[in-house]
Amino acid sequence: MKAMGPIPAQFSADEDARLKIGGWSADELIEQAGGTPLFVYDNIIAGGQVARFRAAMPDGLALHYAVKANPYGPLLRFLARHVDGFDIASAGELRMLEEAEVAGLPVSFAGPGKRDGEIELAIAANVTLNVESEGEAERALTIAGRAGRQPRIAVRVNPPFGIKGSGMKMGGLASPFGVDADRAPALVRRVIDDGAEWRGLHIFAGSQVLAADALIEAQRATVALAAEIADAAGAAPPELNLGGGFGIPYFPGEQPLDVEAVGAALAETLGGAPDVLAETRFAIELGRWLVGEAGVYLARIIDRKESGGRTFLVTDGGLHHMLAASGNFGQLLRRNYPVAIAGRFGCEPDEQVTVTGCLCTPLDLLADDVSLPHAEPGDIMAIFCAGAYGLTASPQAFLGQPPAREVLV
Ligand SMILES: Cc1ncc(COP(=O)(O)O)c(C=O)c1O
Repeated sequence: MKAMGPIPAQFSADEDARLKIGGWSADELIEQAGGTPLFVYDNIIAGGQVARFRAAMPDGLALHYAVKANPYGPLLRFLARHVDGFDIASAGELRMLEEAEVAGLPVSFAGPGKRDGEIELAIAANVTLNVESEGEAERALTIAGRAGRQPRIAVRVNPPFGIKGSGMKMGGLASPFGVDADRAPALVRRVIDDGAEWRGLHIFAGSQVLAADALIEAQRATVALAAEIADAAGAAPPELNLGGGFGIPYFPGEQPLDVEAVGAALAETLGGAPDVLAETRFAIELGRWLVGEAGVYLARIIDRKESGGRTFLVTDGGLHHMLAASGNFGQLLRRNYPVAIAGRFGCEPDEQVTVTGCLCTPLDLLADDVSLPHAEPGDIMAIFCAGAYGLTASPQAFLGQPPAREVLV
């Protein structure tokens, strides 16, 4: 038997042991949506995360939502009422914001390989370009000059440190993301001297961090680095985007991030920030921590079979919608996401099963050798922690399977 990750504490069952999501049972949600596979996002959970962030963090710290985590339109519309800005990674994400009619909030655009057309669209939409290199900055200045516009530019810095224990290290390495810190002051000067509106610095050192002390240390180092760059450039940054990196527990043994400890330490760090940052507005950008636990992926069991002494539950879902749960989205070692039988939520397990998707590849494993209450074809499998890097981070076109449905409740 292999363990699975922790089911987020916000989920519970009704008196018939049916999993409730936003007050609805899985069957009700599936009927309303028209079938499975179905992603359900619970706005009370996402809203609760925003409230927890606000309560824990120092006053005035801006919260930006990283659209890449989940660009589902109704979710963007919901979050637009609660966050202070959006971070996008492409012109496609800018279009998604426009389609969701939430482009009124400040938007920043980070990511390597911005094409000229994307830069042009971003400048026209007053989006802050977090430039990733000197070359990209030059292209942005030229494009803005041609259009007769003053571009908003922040310099993304590749910090000389990463975050210890982060699921994805994005600092302390040679990197396509941001300019190396020692070259940042010159780039800041170049942007200012060209007449661009310099918006400040963006320093993103890692993602999926569960250790508060590692995050605290990285935030301290980020503030110190920003001050050094500002001093060397002779210019105070209007904004410092401290990145994010807040993680959620997906796997056995993982503990939630102590956000309150991070907030208390950040208040101290910002309170003691060097003078050059006295007028700076600070921001944190989060994706996964805001919406990851709000999402549940529901798939119907199509077949139950025995092979080699093992029981397989084969569902109509799979890695084409939920690649990360299969272990193929950057994990070194495959471990089990939290899963449950939606109609027997909280019931004692009475068998060991392996849950697969419907794709013709052994990679399509949703839960390997886990203990669950008995289930038959027709029952619904719930895969938790599916709100971030789920559907849009999966190879949806693979093997011609039907698309997943999505709903916000
Ligand atoms: C620049 C940037 N901002 C924000 C995020 C969102 O990270 P997370 O969803 O882990 O909060 C990422 C993720 O890689 C990123 O690269």
